[in-house]
Amino acid sequence: MSFKTSVQHFQTLVTSFHPVVVIDTVEEERVQGLISAACNDMQMAVFEWSVAQGLMRSPDSPDHRWQNEYAPPGTKRGQALPKTAEPLDMLRHIQEMSFKAIFWLKDFAPHLKDPVVARQLREVAEQFSHHRSTLVISGSDNDLPPEIAHDAVYFDIKLPEPEELYNAVSDVVRALKGRVKVDLTPEDIRDLVSALRGMTLSQTRKVVSYAALHDGRLDADDVKRVLERKARVIHEEGLLDYFPPETNLSELGGFEGLKRWLAYAKVGFTPQARQYNLPAPKGILIVGIQGCGKSLAAKTIARQWNLPLLKLDAGRLYDKYVGESDKNFRRAVTMAETMAPCILWIDEIEKSMGQTSGEADGGLSRRLFGYFLTWLQEKSQEIFVVATANDLSAIPPELLRKGRFDEIFFVDLPEANERHAILHIHLGRRQQGTDNFDLNQLVIATEGFSGAEIEQAIITAHYRALYENRPADTNLLLEEIKRTVPLSVTRREDIQRLRAMAQERFVTAR
Ligand SMILES: Nc1ncnc2c1ncn2[C@@H]1O[C@H](COP(=O)(O)OP(=O)(O)OP(=O)(O)O)[C@@H](O)[C@H]1O
Ligand SMILES: [Mg+2]
Repeated sequence: MSFKTSVQHFQTLVTSFHPVVVIDTVEEERVQGLISAACNDMQMAVFEWSVAQGLMRSPDSPDHRWQNEYAPPGTKRGQALPKTAEPLDMLRHIQEMSFKAIFWLKDFAPHLKDPVVARQLREVAEQFSHHRSTLVISGSDNDLPPEIAHDAVYFDIKLPEPEELYNAVSDVVRALKGRVKVDLTPEDIRDLVSALRGMTLSQTRKVVSYAALHDGRLDADDVKRVLERKARVIHEEGLLDYFPPETNLSELGGFEGLKRWLAYAKVGFTPQARQYNLPAPKGILIVGIQGCGKSLAAKTIARQWNLPLLKLDAGRLYDKYVGESDKNFRRAVTMAETMAPCILWIDEIEKSMGQTSGEADGGLSRRLFGYFLTWLQEKSQEIFVVATANDLSAIPPELLRKGRFDEIFFVDLPEANERHAILHIHLGRRQQGTDNFDLNQLVIATEGFSGAEIEQAIITAHYRALYENRPADTNLLLEEIKRTVPLSVTRREDIQRLRAMAQERFVTAR
């Protein structure tokens, strides 16, 4: 959604008598941008309140910047209305005011824990629902009491558009003038802005300033630095892990069926496909046996398509310290949308959206699942979802129905030619090549092994070779292989059950 569409959407909420709009963000600069654009257009007055400053009228003219922490020095300061710092006083004051306005209350939700304040807000909301005034509540903790949540509508403020990011970069360059040497071609600037997508404006300023001040230059090399920093920032936010295409070196042995499908589906992302009004591919589900390369396949797709990969940390969706799960999922999806085209990887989807026994989690995973299904069905952005799952019985059947995913792949234990490819990849990675090894013999010995088990045997054999100060060779590796009892033996029944369920329903990945 572009900034202009956001503004229109916000205006519609105001004109359709929504008395309370909640915006979940700490980026007040962007809330300000939104409200001021919307109100200029509608010729409405704006007031802003914080517990520190009280209530004050924001200047009508855009030349008079508002009083806030990011206004440049020398900005005219507004005057707060007397005795309006206390939440209750402020609400009573607003109730007395007769003209229509937007009242922006910063970090207000925590004050609603006081029942008197909460009641007063309801009364103001009731009054506002008959005329066009609106309360806008912004902040990061927006836990509203149920009686207020009933009157409130959440407004998602989108992450900055490329144009806003470009302006933020220009601001930094201007501010650092004389201190750093800027050496960027128009292509570099485009790459830099694209690397910044998914970040907030304040993160953008920090990252770009850091990259520039670090060596006194802002040049093409800084794009890489920005990408690394972005990976860290996204990780610290807690819900997604980011793998830039530049650092993704995954190599997948076998999976020929999947690889063929991917080569074919890639045309769905081309401009020609758009010309024919063809939708971009939605996503795939990879179901299968542990350690057989499902997660690796997700990474390899991103590599093959040269797209950024975002991994959703399903466990953190439910982390009470990160916040509410539905909201977390929405945030993750919003982030992915700003980074489109990209791959959204949901590992072990049955764990976050599976069928829970009873309603132990208050129906949360069902609700989240419903939200996910709708999103998957309706998403228009070029986000390709790669979901993986081990436990088919825990996946709600709706997800397996035709049309949800473009295809569902089943991954079995690797066959001989695939074990050959896997051995080749992992022996090659140990920097000795495969000359010392009789691959055919190893392929036979690893029958019933998963890729992960083959890799583990190779690692252990190499440890032993290092310890005994001799080169790793076929015999050493064969000994390690003999010592391993693979899952295909210890979990024979589980695997057979999975095979039986999957084989007749899904396409095989090979
Ligand atoms: N087909 C393969 N080609 C190359 N390496 C493989 C392959 N399959 C497995 N591996 C190795 O095994 C490791 C584990 O595989 P991966 O994590 O992708 O398995 P998985 O199917 O996601 O397992 P789980 O169900 O336990 O999550 C990989 O990091 C890789 O090193
Ligand atoms: Mg996995």
